[in-house]
Amino acid sequence: MEFDQIREADTAVANAMEGELSRQQETFSLIASENYVSEAVLAGQGSPLTNKYAEGYPGERYYAGCEYVDEIEQLAIDRATELWGADHVNVQPHSGTQANMAVYLAVLEPGDKILSLDLNHGGHLSHGHHVNFAGQLFEVEHYEVDADTGYLDYESIHEHAERFEPDIIVSGFSAYPREVEWERIQEAADAVDAYHLADIAHITGLVAAGVHESPVGVADFATGSTHKTIRAGRGGIIMCDEEYADDIDSAVFPGSQGGPLAHNIAGKAVGFGEALTPAFQSYAEQVVANAKALGDVLTDKGLSLVSGGTDTHLLLVDLRESHPDVTGSDAEDALADANLILNANTVPGETRSAFDPSGVRIGTPGITTRGFDEAATRELGELIYEVIDNVDDDSVIESVRSRVEELSREYPLYE
Ligand SMILES: Cc1ncc(COP(=O)(O)O)c(C=O)c1O
Repeated sequence: MEFDQIREADTAVANAMEGELSRQQETFSLIASENYVSEAVLAGQGSPLTNKYAEGYPGERYYAGCEYVDEIEQLAIDRATELWGADHVNVQPHSGTQANMAVYLAVLEPGDKILSLDLNHGGHLSHGHHVNFAGQLFEVEHYEVDADTGYLDYESIHEHAERFEPDIIVSGFSAYPREVEWERIQEAADAVDAYHLADIAHITGLVAAGVHESPVGVADFATGSTHKTIRAGRGGIIMCDEEYADDIDSAVFPGSQGGPLAHNIAGKAVGFGEALTPAFQSYAEQVVANAKALGDVLTDKGLSLVSGGTDTHLLLVDLRESHPDVTGSDAEDALADANLILNANTVPGETRSAFDPSGVRIGTPGITTRGFDEAATRELGELIYEVIDNVDDDSVIESVRSRVEELSREYPLYE
């Protein structure tokens, strides 16, 4: 991968881009919300489509010259429809957060009530945190996972809904390792006549491949990111029944966005096409198999996993019992020094702060893209443990780093 054209025009940007490429090649991303897209998706995103204004939707644009953009957006829509089986799909949201914003705009009024999972228990800022527009415009209450098991407590969600009478219940999470029973949340929404938004940002790919139960056709709306477990480039997506199609489309454009990012939509079209192949099915299965293998190794070593394990692409490690003197940030920093990139994360019942929480979140989408199977993942698990157990020992970190460097050459990226 060359940056010659950029270098000719702008050395400073070219240098930084080359640095980032090397960083990605020499490290492994274990950030649960990250992945590596194909070079075809990259080419779609870095294309002349960035020049085109196309406010509106295929066949109904406010600008001339949209015939090819129409074709591409329609391909993205058709492929998404096939992947997730929704009646209606909008592929224009610039991000998962924008997708959620459009759903709120479509069905809520300022001051309406949102019931969603607490951020410290695995929720997301856009589900109503006070620093986010959703927390500022709406009245928000949060449900929590069960303090003992780490699992969602569907009965308490139901009770909370009866008490709070929300206008919308948000499900779908940033750091919840277990399969979600969408029907049970739908029952809580039905009981109080609330909408149900299932935000599958993290598990879009797992749902598309059928390795996680789908909320499409159960919840009123499903939103997602297109760059986490599905490798279609940075962006968002909304799926809904036909009855909400017009409201959702108007809430995206003109309600909350201007011209769509046609180049990103080209990336989505290409990535969705890739996800329709049998290879993607095997990929998604391997993502989960690797997460389980990693969970087994870390548990055997004595680390405590929230909910005791995983059904998905991510693990949430609670360090408080096994390593009371190691915070999530200590672990994140030491692992980064060993070229293993993940993020510190709050855990249910968090006793520290969001800036220096008690856990780390580990995801397998990226390493699986790079070819890891369970055996390779188990070795990586041993290395992760070595570092967590020796965060202050430079020689241990150095020796893990040199093994990671070897592995990064064995499992290359963008050769
Ligand atoms: C559950 C959930 N929703 C929404 C988002 C936001 O996605 P984006 O970063 O594309 O805005 C995330 C991001 O991690 C997420 O985990």
